[in-house]
Amino acid sequence: MTITISDAKNHVNEDVTIQGWMYNRRGSGKIYFLQLRDGTGFMQGIVTPQESGEEAMAEAEKMTMESSCRVTGTITAHPKHDDVFELQVKKIEAIHIPDEEYPISKKEHGPDFLLDNRHLWLRSGKQWAIQRVRNTIINATYEYLNQNEFIKIDAPILTPNACEGTTELFEIEYFDEGNAYLSQSGQLYIEAAIMSHGRVFDFGPVFRAEKSKTRRHLTEFWMMDAEMAFVEHEENIKIQEELVCHIIKKVLEVNQKELKILERDVEPLKKVEAPFIRKTHAEVVAELKEMGSDIEENHDLGGDDETILTKKYDKPIFVDRYPAEVKAFYMKRDPNDETRALCVDLLAPEGYGEIIGGSQREDDYDVLLKRLKEHDLSEKDFSWYLDLRKFGSVPHSGFGFGLERIVGWICGTQHIRETIPFPRLISRITP
Ligand code: 4AD
Ligand code: MG
Repeated sequence: MTITISDAKNHVNEDVTIQGWMYNRRGSGKIYFLQLRDGTGFMQGIVTPQESGEEAMAEAEKMTMESSCRVTGTITAHPKHDDVFELQVKKIEAIHIPDEEYPISKKEHGPDFLLDNRHLWLRSGKQWAIQRVRNTIINATYEYLNQNEFIKIDAPILTPNACEGTTELFEIEYFDEGNAYLSQSGQLYIEAAIMSHGRVFDFGPVFRAEKSKTRRHLTEFWMMDAEMAFVEHEENIKIQEELVCHIIKKVLEVNQKELKILERDVEPLKKVEAPFIRKTHAEVVAELKEMGSDIEENHDLGGDDETILTKKYDKPIFVDRYPAEVKAFYMKRDPNDETRALCVDLLAPEGYGEIIGGSQREDDYDVLLKRLKEHDLSEKDFSWYLDLRKFGSVPHSGFGFGLERIVGWICGTQHIRETIPFPRLISRITP
């Protein structure tokens, strides 16, 4: 019977076949330890002349790193470690033995070499673990949203106008229609859908032609935008908090093995419980200045500001009411202070920084039109968006999370490039 490694615990002392890859081999002519991987997990196969026979020994000897194979034998429980199983090999069928030496070895490789070989690097233990955690985060997000009356609305990727500022747009020629742009966020489109469905979300790739060469920036990344009718600033914050708690809870439930492979200290993750820390932008600026930052009252937080601030805390931080002048045109202003937007950014602790951006939206036609003009955006391009304020406008709010930023924080990776299968950076488009 063919089984998966993840199911080995249910087959102790049974004869089974595992199909996968041999990612390493230890031993010599007397005994071989095959390090096997099948996608669901990792397992050691033990080959000896006495138990496995000469034929299996010869086959084990022939196999090189990353050979694909079917290996048959008896599952045994590891004598010392709980929850570790081994395969006492009886038969090996090599499916494909590479002619060349596998380029990625146990020795240290530089990031460029690894990124050039990303198609192979994805097989490495840590990269395997990161993608598994990413998968859990995606599923937990869908789960939370589905349990809370959200409907998925797929926003277009080819768009005629900007959403988040015109300096970061990927421009393409669109037949006879002139320029089109790759979407920076589906937000504006899913705002249209709340009038039909109440609570909606999208989840897909977005694009930023940002000239930012940092450990936090990709040019293509995955965003989940949520948008909710009749939800105002405070409730918007509560929903973000609940969603993030749900994600963390799920990862801690499902991915203990992966977090261990990543050597992630799970103690800070366990502390992620509502309520999160909340500070106004003005408070944060004062705090940062005390820590030596040159940030000014009307500035956005820089990457370094986010790093030093969030290193101080082990819980996520909502930074509330940024200066309206540094934020997008669609944000509603604080009725008590017109210079501030009714927005929050959620910053992940331990130095990670912004993972979510959200706000209440301007719902008044005349005010929104004024904002468009202030931002030098064309009334014509946004006429459909203005229409939403013409026909049954309601107070509404929403937010967008950057999937890779969340994966990076939860996995504890140094750089965002490892959190997406095939990263797109300013100076990298391959493989
Ligand atoms: O803060 P941003 O730009 O907000 C929006 O796009 C809103 N339209 C979202 C909304 O309200 N529906 O982007 C949202 C999140 C950020 O908080 C960050 O996590 C991530 O997207 N992000 C990036 N991730 C990787 N690389 C980049 N270049 C990113 N830019 C933003
Ligand atoms: Mg932002």
